[in-house]
Amino acid sequence: ACSSSAATNFKVFRGTFVHSTQEEALVILEDALLGVDSTGKISFVEKGPELEKVSAKFGFNPSAVTQLSPQEFFMPGLVDTHIHAAQYSFAGTALDLPLLDWLQTYTFPVESRYSDLEFARQVYTHVVKRTLRNGTTTACYFATIHTDASLLLGEIANDFGQRALVGKVCMDRNGLHEHYKEETQESLDETSRCGNTFYIININITHFSRPVVTPRFSVSCTSELMLKLAEVARNNNLHIQSHISENMDEVRLVQELFPESESYTDVYRKHNLLTSKTIMAHGCYLSDEELQIFHQTGSSLAHCPNSNLSLCSGLLDVRKVLSHKVKLGLGTDVAGGYSPSMLDAVRRTRDTSKALKIQDPVHQTLTWEETFRLATLGGSQGIPPQPKPSFRAFWS
Ligand code: GUN
Ligand code: FE
Repeated sequence: ACSSSAATNFKVFRGTFVHSTQEEALVILEDALLGVDSTGKISFVEKGPELEKVSAKFGFNPSAVTQLSPQEFFMPGLVDTHIHAAQYSFAGTALDLPLLDWLQTYTFPVESRYSDLEFARQVYTHVVKRTLRNGTTTACYFATIHTDASLLLGEIANDFGQRALVGKVCMDRNGLHEHYKEETQESLDETSRCGNTFYIININITHFSRPVVTPRFSVSCTSELMLKLAEVARNNNLHIQSHISENMDEVRLVQELFPESESYTDVYRKHNLLTSKTIMAHGCYLSDEELQIFHQTGSSLAHCPNSNLSLCSGLLDVRKVLSHKVKLGLGTDVAGGYSPSMLDAVRRTRDTSKALKIQDPVHQTLTWEETFRLATLGGSQGIPPQPKPSFRAFWS
């Protein structure tokens, strides 16, 4: 009786499975059996020819196994560790300016339109469907400063079955666009409202979207806002995401805005924003000392090679990052990056590594197996799978 009731609990697949481990960048399991339990978790991986033994051990019907064709294989979902959902509306256009001019000229005017929920619904539906079609099962999204549209993005991702971290963008100063910003208290209140609403939805239904505390970058946040957002993240056990050291002009501007800080990384560290749940995008110009701080704090980096090339921002040396034992995943950074596909991010990661070798022949290029690992296991280190919310309610 025990084994017959267990028989309904597994869905079992037989075929080729491809994945990565810490030890081996690419593992190919041919003719394997993979069992998924009723909660959707993988509960075993066994050898295909041992079907009889395995089915007896786990109590499933061997004739109910789903067999893949020889042309098919399973692989882990791709993790996009950095994507601006709101910028999807102009992806593939407007890549003729460097970062700060690009933000001012194209990005902020578009993002300010997301007070319009109908516009938000259209774009957010498109970006979720498109990224899912391209294999992105988990995405770490920047939305805009608008809470209601950000909540809508979480709802849409959930409805289509994508695990999403959704960041209501926080910015209480904007020298580049006077109207696209918030007051400090407003930014904090809206971040709490966003988190609270996610929490209430999450306790009522199975919901895969979670909030992520999102100070846009040091250029658009005051010290007070950054300190208080760090507190919100700590009190509620939330992820944090932002941008760091993407472009030389940006790095210089941050030095001017925070003259008392030793480096861009030091700015975030002083504001308590570097935690083991922090994902910082880019990091092209981080020094060894700064990477050391990333390692010590357990913060991770999102490498966004398409964006770095498209906006002529820089070339991140992934080998150097990994040699400091800093967690690193890949991101599309739509729309600084023109492609919403993580397989494109894999290719651009290799292209960037090869460009570094052109500059310096001793540079060891990343293998394609390693880039595959970054797009899957690499991203999951910054954003561990977590089907149920672990954060608790705000009491604001
Ligand atoms: N730095 C601050 N905001 C942004 C953004 O929207 N895109 C990119 N690529 N960098 C940023
Ligand atoms: Fe970005």
